Amino acid sequence: MNKNEKSIVLISEDSALNQRLDSLLGAEPSLVLNQCPATLAQMNGKAQEMAQSTDLIIFRPEADLERDLAALEGIRATGGQARLLALSRGDVSLAQARRLMQAGVAEVVPDTVDDTELGQVVSRLTVGRRLTLAASPEPQGAVIAVAKARGGVGATTLAANLAFALRGPNRRFGKTPPRPVVLVDLDVQFGAVAGFVDLPPNEALFRMALDGIEPDSFFVEQSVAEAPSGLPVLAAPEGFMPLDALRPAQIARLISTLRARFDFVVIDLPQAMVDWLVPVLEAADRLYLACDASVPCVQQARRLIDFYHEANMALPVEVVISQGRKPLFPSRRITEAAKVLEQPLRHWLPSDPKHATEAMDRGRPLAQVARGAALTRAICHLAKDLTTRLACDVQTSRHPDERS
Ligand SMILES: Nc1ncnc2c1ncn2[C@@H]1O[C@H](COP(=O)(O)OP(=O)(O)O)[C@@H](O)[C@H]1O
Ligand SMILES: [Mg+2]
Repeated sequence: MNKNEKSIVLISEDSALNQRLDSLLGAEPSLVLNQCPATLAQMNGKAQEMAQSTDLIIFRPEADLERDLAALEGIRATGGQARLLALSRGDVSLAQARRLMQAGVAEVVPDTVDDTELGQVVSRLTVGRRLTLAASPEPQGAVIAVAKARGGVGATTLAANLAFALRGPNRRFGKTPPRPVVLVDLDVQFGAVAGFVDLPPNEALFRMALDGIEPDSFFVEQSVAEAPSGLPVLAAPEGFMPLDALRPAQIARLISTLRARFDFVVIDLPQAMVDWLVPVLEAADRLYLACDASVPCVQQARRLIDFYHEANMALPVEVVISQGRKPLFPSRRITEAAKVLEQPLRHWLPSDPKHATEAMDRGRPLAQVARGAALTRAICHLAKDLTTRLACDVQTSRHPDERS
């Protein structure tokens, strides 16, 4: 084979699909397409061999994923270079797609996509950097921590509504399923998230601390509850829980388990500085620090930023001025505050006690209570800004030949 050619193996029992790919890719001079009319599991060890010598394996997942997942595990274990594309039936669920991707599949595409799009996916997966399957990491959701420089400034309001906004515009009843986002209340002593989302307090974190539980995917499955708004939430316990009952290793594991499952893990942090904040800060992609523009609050924010940076120098900490409207012309106080905090004050959440209280009392996100309100729009804007900037971070941190 010419070294510029890419080899593709199609593993599928569906003759219509095989014909479609043959006519789509067969005539392409830079591609060599081989077809295996079988399922991935039926290939036994052959698929593993292929992973060593092929650029791309396209396969049709079975209705029951378990056999595919077992076969994928075998392929991963060989450390082969091939990338994997699952060409599923149109009714594949988000949960099934995530499981396939966790097992090392680069993309899961429903066969309802048109030929142009399918061609683009194939060329994206056959050119550029090749993934080593053995090293292919689990999907890593972004971890967004929300802290506060003083109690009552509006951190939980921000965390709960930011988490909801990150789910995306179509949320529960739209065509596109909402982006998987989880809201976690680690303000375990004064946790108010449960009330904000109309769920009862949750004893899971208390049990985890008391029984020394390692929070694996089973624990997460059992502990995360769906709020009436549709948002998955891990709320704090009701009773008093000593802050140091949680171990840093448990929090580290909890976060890694959650981020394997959710695209965003939004964490409401306590004001206290405890040792298990370190794993949160190490894992976090962003920390929003809710603050007001008063001198004592800004000074406390400064101290906290220094504390956070001691744990993770690279963590972007962005101050959010809560309950204050961005002035058209910044006063001297604001200019001074920005200087002390060593950052421009980009994020402002206007004061809106009426809607903030109504949303809290009804246990609903602001977007469902007061869609057009300035406070709701400001939080949506923050969520958009976050997703855009995280995407930029990914682009700039990637190796140049990995960028498309
Ligand atoms: N932007 C805002 N405008 C007006 N009131 C707000 C705003 N954000 C929060 N609040 C109110 O302030 C109180 C404390 O909010 P909360 O989010 O629980 O603060 P924190 O978590 O920082 O202690 C609540 O009554 C809430 O409704
Ligand atoms: Mg709070």
